[in-house]
Amino acid sequence: MNTQTMADNSPTNALLDHDMIEKHENELLELENKVCSHGDTVHYAQRPKFFEHCEGSYLYDGYNNAYLDLQMWYSAVNLGYANQRVNDALKAQIDKLPQLACQYLHKEKVELASKVVDSVQKGFGETGRVHFNVGGSQAVEDALKLVRKHTGRQHMLAFEGGYHGRTLGASAITSSYRYREPFGEFGDRAEFIPFPYCFRCPYGKKKETCELYCVQQVERKFDHEYTGTWNPKSGHAEFGAFFVESVQGTGGYVIPPEGYYERLAKTCQDHGILIVDDEIQMGFFRTGKLWSMEHFGIKPDIIVFGKALTNGLNPLSGIWAKEALISPDKFGPGSTHSTFSSNSLGTATGLEVMKILSEGDYEKTVPEKGAYFLNILKDLKSKHPEIGDVDGLGLALRMEMCEADGFTPSRALADKMFQRGLEGNLKVNGKTLGLILDIGGYYKNVVTLAPSLEITHEEMDLAHDLLDLLITECKKN
Ligand SMILES: Cc1ncc(COP(=O)(O)O)c(C=O)c1O
Repeated sequence: MNTQTMADNSPTNALLDHDMIEKHENELLELENKVCSHGDTVHYAQRPKFFEHCEGSYLYDGYNNAYLDLQMWYSAVNLGYANQRVNDALKAQIDKLPQLACQYLHKEKVELASKVVDSVQKGFGETGRVHFNVGGSQAVEDALKLVRKHTGRQHMLAFEGGYHGRTLGASAITSSYRYREPFGEFGDRAEFIPFPYCFRCPYGKKKETCELYCVQQVERKFDHEYTGTWNPKSGHAEFGAFFVESVQGTGGYVIPPEGYYERLAKTCQDHGILIVDDEIQMGFFRTGKLWSMEHFGIKPDIIVFGKALTNGLNPLSGIWAKEALISPDKFGPGSTHSTFSSNSLGTATGLEVMKILSEGDYEKTVPEKGAYFLNILKDLKSKHPEIGDVDGLGLALRMEMCEADGFTPSRALADKMFQRGLEGNLKVNGKTLGLILDIGGYYKNVVTLAPSLEITHEEMDLAHDLLDLLITECKKN
């Protein structure tokens, strides 16, 4: 039941309605508890939350309370919820070619692949091909296959704090042992390299004086044969590829310092290690460039994408790879396949998203809005010593919650903020609202902010007031 449809909204009736909705939700929660696996992330929340509808930057619960969403489904919904153009493209495709076995062709698949190929050509000056799949992790699996096929290596390098998904292959290159521990041996587990996380430098250095000590440590691995990394005689490394997120997503929206990737990529190139650029969370203008790696002056060999490609509508993901890796003689028919891999509803929505992105001025608007939002975070930091660090690249922003010393991570405070926002009853400027946040980072104390790319300045001001209230309330308790 939706309170919007009520004819009589007298206080007594509203109360009755509220009770009915609550009763119904409680029944559903009880049922969910019996019939749904708890293996996903729903039960991270103390009381799992139902939502009824969504629009723009807002989600609405069954009582029609609005929640300002500052993380947009982990950056899957870059163009705002219920985006009319994307919805219309999906509806049109349902009426035209709603389904088709992936062994046959449809024009949207080819056109979308062509747009992705063109965008990589424009961003990195490289030619290549696209292979679609359904989810991000599955596309990561395809990238792993391609690397194995090309290099004959099954060992990979990846970053501490990196997240590449939870299928078995993707878990093997994701740093958290938590995701692997219950599931037996991972013989092909990646070697994890410390990420340049300057606020908490893994080597205890200072950014101003370190001279990129962290990348020197990677370079050192190739000094001689005794580091267990490569064989100077054959010229081969034991590792096929380095899987990187230009800006770490789940790891806490950590932005590496200038010059880091250039040196890392050179070392990899010099030793035959491919660079796989995981753009699943940071792609599609989240950072102000279509591909976030465009900020860092290197050319990836493989790009993996998903999430915002369809604005979070019908699932579609994919990889782009350099022609030398994915040409038909190298990666022939049947090399990889999934029933739903290039589903026509996904390709039609993806195509519309790519059109919207090419017609908009996101290279200008995203950095401008990002700078505005970062100033808001700086203002909050000046009021609340518990905010240890704020940073941002475009509209990928971070706010690190700490103890009053501004450094000791406070998972408790971040958790409280997450739960309190979900209650949906924060009162600011005469409005009652909820706030949707996501918590990431190595110590689970970082508010990772990924608002809609269409967020307005008014909504950002509202975000300021909501966050201010939330922090003030949560640190008091
Ligand atoms: C950087 C990155 N890679 C891979 C994945 C896995 O994608 P999916 O959840 O669609 O399998 C995610 C998901 O959050 C991600 O952020």
